[in-house]
Parts: sequence; structure tokens; C-alpha cells
Amino acid sequence: MLPPKLQKKLAARVKNDSLRSLTQSSELVDLASNDYLGLSKVPEIAKTASTLLKAQKQTAHGAGGSRLLTGNHSLYPICEQTVALFHNRQSALLFNSGYDANIGFFQAVLQRGDIILFDQYIHASIRDGIQMSHAKAYKFAHNQLDDLEKQCQWARDNKAPDGQLYIVTEAVFSMDGDSPDLKAIAHLATRYQGLLIVDEAHATGVLGKKGEGLVAQLGLEDQVFATLVTFGKAMGVHGAAILSDYDLRTYLINFARSLIYTTALPPHSVAMIVAAYRYLGAQGSSVSPVAQLEQYITYFKQQITAFQLEAYFIASDSAIQVAVIPGVDRVKALSRKLEQKGYDVKPILSPTVTEGQERLRFCLHSFNRPNEFRDVLQAVAKALM
Ligand SMILES: Cc1ncc(COP(=O)(O)O)c(C=O)c1O
Repeated sequence: MLPPKLQKKLAARVKNDSLRSLTQSSELVDLASNDYLGLSKVPEIAKTASTLLKAQKQTAHGAGGSRLLTGNHSLYPICEQTVALFHNRQSALLFNSGYDANIGFFQAVLQRGDIILFDQYIHASIRDGIQMSHAKAYKFAHNQLDDLEKQCQWARDNKAPDGQLYIVTEAVFSMDGDSPDLKAIAHLATRYQGLLIVDEAHATGVLGKKGEGLVAQLGLEDQVFATLVTFGKAMGVHGAAILSDYDLRTYLINFARSLIYTTALPPHSVAMIVAAYRYLGAQGSSVSPVAQLEQYITYFKQQITAFQLEAYFIASDSAIQVAVIPGVDRVKALSRKLEQKGYDVKPILSPTVTEGQERLRFCLHSFNRPNEFRDVLQAVAKALM
């Protein structure tokens, strides 16, 4: 029997129609998953991984321990070199997931006396990591450079003499699909001697000519202290890495608790990451799934204009396109209507987003068809008229 306080919390979710449950993925047209390039279903990737496992004589199903004990099998260095090279960084350190990487990174790096400024829409994993540290944390208004600059000035005047300033943002915001002016943020970070951290979960495999992400696309590798790349979204597999210089990597191996006190990824998971990167790296630039997705993003945005839906959609150049439709009932009803037409488009409710900011989140893929975009937006336009 659930304790009364917990029962009350669940009952509140039922009452405002926001109870979360675990559903099976459907046969509907996928406008909801993060498998932006369809790589999770490419047989060639599994074949490459299998060849790699044989070549490395890796036959175990599990790692058998933490990376600091027995879990650090031979595929780890191969994978970390592949990932670092692809993103043009000195080093990569694998974690079991993006969530693990973020909590491990912020818990380990932020020290008492430090100040961290974070975008108000930053991902839950970053918030959780910050909460595990002893640093002071302040949010800045979403993508607002003037607010960030004000806070940088305040931090400069108020932090402990040995305190370090950190700034964290995302390359593509997961519930909005938009991106910050990363060049300008990097410039501010340099000016105020802050260290910049960028979460590229939804930019990995999507932004940049070959999917190298926003930091590499803008040539900001040397101005970013650490970058999170994740493999469970466009890479179609699982896991994540922190990209940084060698010193930070060594520090994280010593202090990131979510790396130290957990069983390492099994060899086949790491082989799958290498195989997904090799697959992506081998694609020609004009016909690659990355280029196809980019074209579809442009097309989807043209259709938003064609159906006069601009007022609903948040401006976004990413694979995440979001229509804000306030009201739990309204957005759920619209999602159900699209489901009846054969489309899987998820409604996003509070507390994931602020109450009154409920939304439909369209995730675009290189394997979708243009007529699907047209058809689904036509249905949205009809419903909203
Ligand atoms: C911005 C962002 N960071 C981190 C994560 C966590 O990544 P993972 O799914 O690999 O745990 C997510 C996942 O939703 C995300 O959207």
C-alpha cells in the first residue's frame, strides 16, 4: 500500500489529467521518437558491431563490473577515439546514458563557492546534477543573452575569490526545438572567464554537415569546456559521452560517481556505438540521412507557413518542431485526433513544461515522407480553425 502522501500526489495527477503511464510504441507514422535518422533499424550497423566484437574477441554479454574494476573492455578506447575524432575533440569519456553523464559531470565538477548559470529550460538531468553539487545555481531567461550577461556581471562581483563561473546551455532544446546563439554565449563566457558546457543530446547526428553537432559546426571546440553527446537519439543506440580535454577526462574518471559506482556498458552496446558512428561517417554528404533530414526540416517549416500555423510554432531549425497549444484537454484531444489519422505526435504536459504552455511535439525523421508532413499539418490546421 502506497503511503498517503504519495497517494495524494498520484491522485493530483489523475485529477488534472496528467498521469504518466508506460505505453508500447505503435504502428503509427513515427513523428515522436528521437531516432531522427532511423539508425536504430539499419541492419548494417548491427553487422558491423558483430564483426567488431569478433575481431576484438569479445564474447561476454556483460561488462562484469565498473570501468574502474573489470568493466573496461577493449572496445571502450576504440569507441572513445572514434567519438572524439568525429566531433573534433581531444577526448571522449563514455557514460551509460546522457542522464548518467549529466548527473556525474555536474556533481563532480561544481564545487562549493562556484556559480553556475543555466538556461531556464535546461534538461532535468542537468538540474539534478547541479542539485547534487554545492555550487550556487541561477537560471537565466531562455536564450536571452542580455539576461545572461547581467547574471555574468553579478556573478563576477559576488562569487567567492576562488569560485569558478560556469554557464550551461543546450544546442537544441528538447521541448522547444530551438537553439541558442552559441557563438555569442561562448564570447560572453570568455569575457567573464566562465567555462561553457553544452548539451548536444538533440544536435548529435542532426546538426553539422555529417551530424557532428552545433559546437563543431560553429568551430567552437576550443571555447567549450565540455560537451555532452548522446547515442540514444539520432545515433539510434544507447549511451553518451562527455567531450573535453584530457585533464577533465582524467578528473571525471576520478570523481564522477555515476561513472565510478555503476556497471559499465556491455561490449555489444559499445560496439553498436562504434558501428553507428562508422555508418554515419561513411555516408556521402549530399545523400546522407543527415542531409535528407535537413531538407525535411526546411520542407516542414514551409508547410507550417503554407497552413498559416506560424503563430503556434516555436521558431526552430532542428528536427524538433513544437506547436504550443495551451490546455491539457485541448492538446491531448488534438494528439488523439492525429492518432486516429495514423500519426504518432506526443502531447507534452506540465510538469515537463510550464502549466499553460502545453504543446504538440513533432519529431521529424529522415525516413518520414513529405506527404506525411503535409497531411499531419493540414489536420492540425483544420482542428485549430
Ligand atoms: C537535453 C537532454 N540531455 C540529456 C538527456 C539524457 O540522455 P539519455 O536519454 O541518453 O539519458 C536527454 C534525454 O531526453 C535530453 O533531452
